[in-house]
Amino acid sequence: MDNRVIQLDESNIDQVIALEKLCFAYHWTSEQFRLGLRDGAYTVLGFFDKGILTGYLAFSLIEDEMEILNLAVHPKCRRQGIGTSLLKQAFRICRETGIAKSFLDVKESNKGALNLYKKFGYNQIGIRKKYYPDTRENALLFRYDFK
Ligand SMILES: CC(C)(COP(=O)(O)OP(=O)(O)OC[C@H]1O[C@@H](n2cnc3c(N)ncnc32)[C@H](O)[C@@H]1OP(=O)(O)O)[C@@H](O)C(=O)NCCC(=O)NCCS
Repeated sequence: MDNRVIQLDESNIDQVIALEKLCFAYHWTSEQFRLGLRDGAYTVLGFFDKGILTGYLAFSLIEDEMEILNLAVHPKCRRQGIGTSLLKQAFRICRETGIAKSFLDVKESNKGALNLYKKFGYNQIGIRKKYYPDTRENALLFRYDFK
């Protein structure tokens, strides 16, 4: 296990929001994170490099399903395996808690994320036309089955 990956709580929200703003034009708010963390709707993992949050992954666990809600790595720290470390830890949690399947959606143009998810074994199961409110881009829907 990569000990630079830890589970985040409400005390990390400001760092997560700063990273969100760097990574997405249309980003989550502090309140969305706070409510999700407080009522246990999401699990958020963070990757720390010398005490600085350089990546995070938010997902939900509902019954036997995991859904990836958000994944972002600091623009200056990409292609160093941070996204991979975060996903590996999420998969470990899923296997330990008996999760059967995982879903996610991703913008059709987001080749980096598509490559990463495919490397983890996700398969495309559908498409939602003009799904994203910011760009009206298509969403590609992916699924992974934990064996
Ligand atoms: C997508 C993202 C999270 C990937 O994080 P990362 O830490 O750079 O990913 P990794 O270094 O673990 O990459 C693992 C593999 O994914 C693929 N990959 C990642 N970024 C890629 C890119 N820009 N182009 C092509 N392939 C890419 C590669 O196969 C890579 O392996 P390699 O570097 O050995 O070739 C990051 O680019 C990011 O934050 N993007 C902006 C936010 C975003 O789009 N989030 C996803 C929302 S669904």
